[in-house]
Parts: sequence; C-alpha cells; structure tokens
Amino acid sequence: MKALIPAAGYGTRFLPASKTIPKEMLPVGAKPAIQLIVEEALAAGAEEVVIVTSPDKPSLRRHFDVDAVWHARCAKKPEVDAELTHLEEIGKRIRWTFQTEQKGLGHAVLQGADLLRGETDPVLVLLGDALVSGEAPSAAMAAISRAHGGASVVGLEEVPLEKVSRYGIVAGDFVDERVLKLTDLVEKPQPDVAPSRLAIAGRYLLDPAVFDLLATQTPGHGGEIQLTDSIRRLLAEKSVYGYRYPGRRHDIGNPAGYLETLLAFSSSAAR
Ligand code: UTP
Repeated sequence: MKALIPAAGYGTRFLPASKTIPKEMLPVGAKPAIQLIVEEALAAGAEEVVIVTSPDKPSLRRHFDVDAVWHARCAKKPEVDAELTHLEEIGKRIRWTFQTEQKGLGHAVLQGADLLRGETDPVLVLLGDALVSGEAPSAAMAAISRAHGGASVVGLEEVPLEKVSRYGIVAGDFVDERVLKLTDLVEKPQPDVAPSRLAIAGRYLLDPAVFDLLATQTPGHGGEIQLTDSIRRLLAEKSVYGYRYPGRRHDIGNPAGYLETLLAFSSSAAR
C-alpha cells in the first residue's frame, strides 16, 4: 500500500500564524502534525508516502532531512538523537511533489498521481491537517478494504446537523455496526438536503481509478476541484464503503481546533 498526504493548502483560517508556519508543521508535543500523520500511514502498512506540498512551505521537507549538524548538537543526548535518527528513517520513505496553484483538495491529490502511476492497490489518503485521537483509522480501513475485495473506503464521523454544510456527507446502508456501503456522497450540503450526518473525516483509501476521474473533474463547491465529486463518480463504477471510526477527528487548521487537538493529545504527546 502507498499513502498520499495533501499538504499544500494556504491555511487561511490560521492566519496570521500560517504566514510563516504551515499548519501541518504545528507541534503536538514534540512532533509536528505532519510527522504524526506519516507515522499513522506507516503503522497502517504503507511502504511509501507521497506528500503533496507547496514551494512556499519548505519546512515540511526540511523536517525529514538528514542533518549531521543536529546529530552533533545532540551527541550528549542519546534519546533525542535516537528521535532524529527515527525521523530520518521515516524521511527515506517519503517522496515529495508540489501543487503550485491551490485549486482544491481534489487537485492536490491529482498532483500525486505521477508518483503513484501503475498502482493497482487502493491508495491511503490522509489530510495533512487532520489528526485522529484514540484508535487510528487507517489500519482498520485497510482491513475493511481487503475484506471487500480491495474496494475503496472513506473514514466517517457523525457530526451535528448544523455542521453538515462544512463536510462531504455520505448516504449508504450499514453492512455491520461501523461499516456501510455507500450509495451517494455530497460535498457541503445544506442541512435540509443532507442525506445523513455522516461526514467524510480526513482519511480515505481510494481505488487508483480516482486519479483518472480527478484529471477530468470540473470545479465544484467553492470553485475548487473537489475530491468528493470524483469519489461520487467512482461510486458509479465501483463499490465504495464507509467506516464510522471510533477515534475522534481533530482539525488543526483553525485555532480552536488546534487547541482542542492539544488537549486530546496532552497525555500521549507529553514528554
Ligand atoms: P482545507 O480544506 O483545510 O483547505 O485543506 P486549506 O486551503 O488548506 O485551508 P484554509 O481553508 O485556507 O484555512 C485540507 C487539506 O488539504 C490540503 C491542505 O493542506 C490540508 O492538508 N489542501 C487543500 C491542498 O493540499 N491543496 C489545496 O488546494 C487545498
């Protein structure tokens, strides 16, 4: 399995901090969010992670670079030095590409297609500004996909009705307590037409056919190329499942969401 992390967005909801600190680099304990997300992908069985970022965010790549100067500075701190070595090992499994025009999440995912050409297995997509506390959903989603013949799976969380217009919302039939077979997806519906309160929540395992669909995707909600719109077209050709995961999704892309994330991770991320 390969993974893809879109991390090229402007992060305008976190201005002015995000002028110089990409939201994906915000620390949760001693690790930036992007590192926790890469670690989730690797723990779920990804051999390689493609990160789509922007030329304006060089710190993401630098974070994973081999850096002899830092090893020298940590010569008397073996535990910290071991953290740096671990980070560099992770870095060897990352490939980088750019999104130079921010045309939306679907467009960012499409920029990773060249590095994933020839893939036949579903690709794990993890949003670079979404962390999940409690059980990480990616490994369970890979297992659900295998149980359903390699089908696509989207991670879901139930949201209050007044918040459905912020998310991609799904319709479907439950096949067990947490898994449903999708029948429809709608990006940011108004509450009165939302097919459910189940929102797509930061994690996807997608049949690579989605890349061809993204290449011909017309702009949708907000004039952006929406990933949800291409998954909806994928659904016309292939089965897509939803997994209402038990963990809680946290959006670090706005100040309130970030503070909530720090509270949720305060015991596991403290050193
Ligand atoms: P968001 O939907 O939060 O958008 O992105 P954004 O543009 O980054 O943030 P705001 O709305 O201006 O505050 C969800 C994920 O998709 C990536 C982001 O980096 C984030 O990890 N993304 C979004 C891209 O890579 N490119 C885009 O054009 C949009």
